[in-house]
Amino acid sequence: MINPFHYEGFALEKQFYGRDIELAKIQKLVDSSNNLLLYSKRRMGKSSLIKELMHRNADQCYTIYCDIFDIASKEEFASILLKSLAKTHRGDLKTIVSNLKKYFKRITFGITVDPNTAEISYSPRLEGLSFEEMIEEFFEGLFLLAKEKKVILAIDEFQQIALLDTKIDALLRKYMQEPHNVSYIFAGSKRHCLTSLFTYSAPLYEMATHMELGGLDSKSVLGYTSKYLSLNGGVVEYLITLCDHETKLMQHILHILYSNQKDTTITPMMIDDALEEILGDKSSSYTLLYDTFSLTQKKAFKIITSGLETIFSLDTLKAYNIQKASLASALKQLYIKEIIDKEDDKWFVPDRTLELWGKRMLNR
Ligand SMILES: Nc1ncnc2c1ncn2[C@@H]1O[C@H](COP(=O)(O)OP(=O)(O)O)[C@@H](O)[C@H]1O
Ligand SMILES: [Mg+2]
Repeated sequence: MINPFHYEGFALEKQFYGRDIELAKIQKLVDSSNNLLLYSKRRMGKSSLIKELMHRNADQCYTIYCDIFDIASKEEFASILLKSLAKTHRGDLKTIVSNLKKYFKRITFGITVDPNTAEISYSPRLEGLSFEEMIEEFFEGLFLLAKEKKVILAIDEFQQIALLDTKIDALLRKYMQEPHNVSYIFAGSKRHCLTSLFTYSAPLYEMATHMELGGLDSKSVLGYTSKYLSLNGGVVEYLITLCDHETKLMQHILHILYSNQKDTTITPMMIDDALEEILGDKSSSYTLLYDTFSLTQKKAFKIITSGLETIFSLDTLKAYNIQKASLASALKQLYIKEIIDKEDDKWFVPDRTLELWGKRMLNR
């Protein structure tokens, strides 16, 4: 049997569990053609949740999923939207080509079929079109589609928009205001970037219901895991706390436990051993990363992972032999490198595995 604990890519269908409350809430929004802003730290399960929602709505809706993590320009953004929209058209090649002609007036697509997987990819020919024209073409095609069936359009890693120096959000607002049968889902990490796009006076203000995604609840975790492993509620709580509610690390540990110990009763010690295995595998890449830090950044990283509450106290500064101003500047540099993050005035390492590695290796 394949391992039921998935920790990379999307957890789909049978491997997806929990999230009943979130799915019900989002379903309500979709049913009333309302929009959602879904945010959390990375690795909590946003993309998997969106994919699951789309899977459950696949019969009654057109579902379009775009991941814009890699965009470096607004034109790339438009191109991803157009490609994802083109992908919605299924069937044999002849049907696809005639549909693309019907739904796209100004753009033609280069179509390639992977001989091994039979998967079709589309590359829109965008020469001579302005960004605004590309977006217009996209929404015209989208609204035409929405005449047939409701559309769910999800744009994942939406915070990347904030990094581009353009008014994409204002342009999106213009189209979103048109009454069509479309639910927009914006998802992403980096809370401050993302929520700043939806803040008071920003173009997307009040254009979406906000939802912060927490970890999977312990009842769902116990319900699913106990189908495959022998473990009790206390052990599940131990696992969740150790992972600080991060879904990916929790799933990775469960994956290892299932591979090695599916016939024994799971104890906290086995969970610790599985974590050690993960940290051991990652140790060389984390060490390489750590070696790229300057001396003050190394100190700042140690202070953050040490779990000290008062990082700027005289005692801490003295213990780590660092000036307050240098610590503040090192923290800022680590923040820019996306190693650490800040919420409610508290610095933290958003990647729980990296944080635990720092705790173990650097703060012995
Ligand atoms: N509800 C779930 N059930 C099972 N596994 C999940 C669930 N949500 C997330 N995961 C696992 O955790 C990993 C991280 O989730 P992901 O959806 O990529 O998070 P995010 O988009 O928030 O970064 C995924 O690779 C997936 O395997
Ligand atoms: Mg994601």
